[in-house]
Amino acid sequence: MSSEDYRKRVTEDMKSFATGEVTPDLWEWFVRRLHYMSGNFDAPETYVKLKELLAKVDQGFSAHGNYFFYLATNPDAFGPIVKNLAETELMKQIDHQWRRVIVEKPFGHDLESARALNQELLTFADEKQIYRIDHYLGKETVQNILALRFANGIFEPIWNRRYIDNIQITVAETVGVEKRGGYYDTAGALRDMVPNHIMQLITLTAMEPPVSFRADSVRDEQSKILHAIQPLSAEEVLTRTVRGQYGEGVINGERVPLYRAEPGVPPDSRTETFVAMKLLIDNWRWADVPFYLRTGKRMPQRNTYIVIQFRRAPFVLFRDTPVENLMPNQLVLHIQPEEGISLRFAAKAPGAQMRLGSVDMNFEYADYFGVQPSTGYERLLHDCMIGDQTLFQRADMVEAGWCVVSPALDVWKALPPRNFPNYPAGTWGPREADELLERDGRRWRNLEK
Ligand code: BG6
Repeated sequence: MSSEDYRKRVTEDMKSFATGEVTPDLWEWFVRRLHYMSGNFDAPETYVKLKELLAKVDQGFSAHGNYFFYLATNPDAFGPIVKNLAETELMKQIDHQWRRVIVEKPFGHDLESARALNQELLTFADEKQIYRIDHYLGKETVQNILALRFANGIFEPIWNRRYIDNIQITVAETVGVEKRGGYYDTAGALRDMVPNHIMQLITLTAMEPPVSFRADSVRDEQSKILHAIQPLSAEEVLTRTVRGQYGEGVINGERVPLYRAEPGVPPDSRTETFVAMKLLIDNWRWADVPFYLRTGKRMPQRNTYIVIQFRRAPFVLFRDTPVENLMPNQLVLHIQPEEGISLRFAAKAPGAQMRLGSVDMNFEYADYFGVQPSTGYERLLHDCMIGDQTLFQRADMVEAGWCVVSPALDVWKALPPRNFPNYPAGTWGPREADELLERDGRRWRNLEK
């Protein structure tokens, strides 16, 4: 492609994907700054060519030699690219110039490979130059967890084991693996979603208040949570984790094929498309409060939410209502597609008798502030330009995330599943996922559509 071809293509894409109006002048301004170059990642000449092109563009547009390189490549290429950038002095920061690199996921495929990748990157770049992206952290509603907890006086006093019974995190998707079967089948739901996106949700929900909102203060607290998650023994993997793979089924009235029939997926694949886990955090705030998490493809609805379930009222004043029938209070943080917060509590149903019903108090983002929610990426790319690493993963956090899932990866590998596919597309996962909570006398909150 020539740069001109590339500009045309991006302009077309913009027309189909932009969520808002595109101002023609602004677009023109932007598109003139796009340049296209291709080359082999392993070939040092590529980087020499890139350096020349950047220098030329830099002169024309006064970019002051500030570059960030965004690696949306095959993960095998992360190390070689950064090495070559460093060897061509493209990572060298002199005077006030900055050079940064954004690395997409997956960051390794287990603890050992993530460690090796960190080591490799850190040989050629400083931690302050490395931005490990997790697009969940760019979502407004994910960042709002911090605002809810630390900008309000009423939640923090009850945000602990004394008042909270359990926490449930659901990341449900209706999509299958689309055209990503090749990648997905080597990864699986656990690797694809848990050490990264779900760990972000857990750390922000569970962390202690940071001493400031500086990048390392926030990340230190997140990291402490990751390190406090109780490691699962091999036996606990069997009782506290559930894996599933979807069979054929119906979603939104449409019949969809089983995972094993998706393009790029072997017909006898044993890769999981659903995972549920029970985790415990060993610290004073959370001891004995289970964090239940589940994520899956081909679930009945696309919905990401966190349920903070409070302890039940200690005894019942109301005749004929046994305490176990009282619905516990739940604070639900809706991450997507609904964006907001709701609080469920008991109220008196109208009538002569004292009967109770559950009601919800709802806040929806869309009703306030008057702005479109972002996809997350724009915020993160901007943060990289201004040098703010708060919403990016530090090396130790990535490794700690892998530590949490490692025991499950090991046990699952040693004991291949025998009952796949074990949930029909369009359902909330295998029966065992419900049993995981039922054994503890609890149940998942499945949001009504
Ligand atoms: C990606 C996973 O990181 O996140 C995908 O690789 C998943 O499998 C996606 O579908 C979910 O992101 P979002 O923003 O749609 O929740």
